[in-house]
Amino acid sequence: MSMGAPQPRIDLIVGARPNFVKVAPVYRALRGHRDRLDVHLVHTGQHYDANMSDVFFADLAIPAPDAFLGVGSLSHGAQTGAIMTQYEQLAMQSRPDLTVVFGDVNSTMACTLAASKLGIPVAHVEAGLRSFDRTMPEEINRVVTDHVADLLFTPSADADEHLRREGIPADRIHFVGNVMIDSLVASRAKIEASNILGALALEPKRYAVATLHRPSNVDRDETLAPILSALESIQARVPIVFPAHPRTQRRLAAEGLRALRARLTNVRIIEPLAYCDFVRLVSQATLVLTDSGGIQEETTYLDVPCVTLRKNTERPITISHGTSVLVGNDTATIVREAERILGGGGKRGTVPPLWDGHAGERIAAVIQRRITPGVTQ
Ligand code: UD1
Repeated sequence: MSMGAPQPRIDLIVGARPNFVKVAPVYRALRGHRDRLDVHLVHTGQHYDANMSDVFFADLAIPAPDAFLGVGSLSHGAQTGAIMTQYEQLAMQSRPDLTVVFGDVNSTMACTLAASKLGIPVAHVEAGLRSFDRTMPEEINRVVTDHVADLLFTPSADADEHLRREGIPADRIHFVGNVMIDSLVASRAKIEASNILGALALEPKRYAVATLHRPSNVDRDETLAPILSALESIQARVPIVFPAHPRTQRRLAAEGLRALRARLTNVRIIEPLAYCDFVRLVSQATLVLTDSGGIQEETTYLDVPCVTLRKNTERPITISHGTSVLVGNDTATIVREAERILGGGGKRGTVPPLWDGHAGERIAAVIQRRITPGVTQ
């Protein structure tokens, strides 16, 4: 590139909590190419509470967003539409050379559609994952995003396979590994320095952690109650810490669950935690019960047994290689699996290929080659 030519502009899109963890390493790696790239962070505002958003920027050392679209919580259609409208306006003015989206949330799909219709190429980080369950809003977001995006960065070989089978040309697909693990590796010292166990008066390996937020588990009493009943049994063996997502907190306050909730005397329901405190809490737990895809990955990396409260997963590698066991939301099955783990029968795992802390750098190298061909790094 000649001296004085404008630097190619790259927009990195974030909106919801898991996006912040995924963007940090990519942001850092692209800034390493700063003399040739103009990197902008765009926050859609899908998540907006301080403990769902701001604390992640601080923990992960990401600067404040360059643009904040302020969309907030709405129905799926309204939220997706509002993000598209806002991002279209921004992108029409600023004409990025590439829009990079992360994961499978509504912000991911909305900005992919807005950018691609303006002729702006899109890169998708964490492409190719499939649960094959179209009742999950995230599955729709994944399929649409992958088929519209131009560059697909995958975390595991199964993802490459899905994309190829769906007819996506091989030259769009780049197996780079898992950016969420990059954040964990990069934050290791800060995670180890967290005093969350002291603050909650917990002994290492003598407590369990639970998290729940999927609509299919938390939005109806009929699905949430059996899970809470399982926690009621498990709490007799081990104290449970339950950092509750705002969606779940609202549902836990429902009248129909009041009696069951009152019996959860050894379950501590607390506010969502910041990133380093949360990973520290998970790393020292004897057992994790969760419906989060990201936590399935983190427990696999940390070799902590994970009882996954879902009927399917878009991350089967956490089962084939990792510590996760799929149990759905049946009380007896959850309790049986938890008891097995607490009795010392927990599954041991291995870390999947390229979950090594360097995915962000691999992504930055591909982007650099694509955006400024001919320039060597
Ligand atoms: C979203 C993602 C999901 C991801 C999850 C991580 C979609 C379709 N879903 O689900 O894939 O796993 O984030 O957390 O994009 N709320 C607050 N404060 C906030 C954010 C949300 O109170 O900062 C409440 C609101 O009442 C909102 C509800 O939580 O209606 C759900 O938020 P929303 O972003 O719609 O979906 P999540 O369940 O967070």
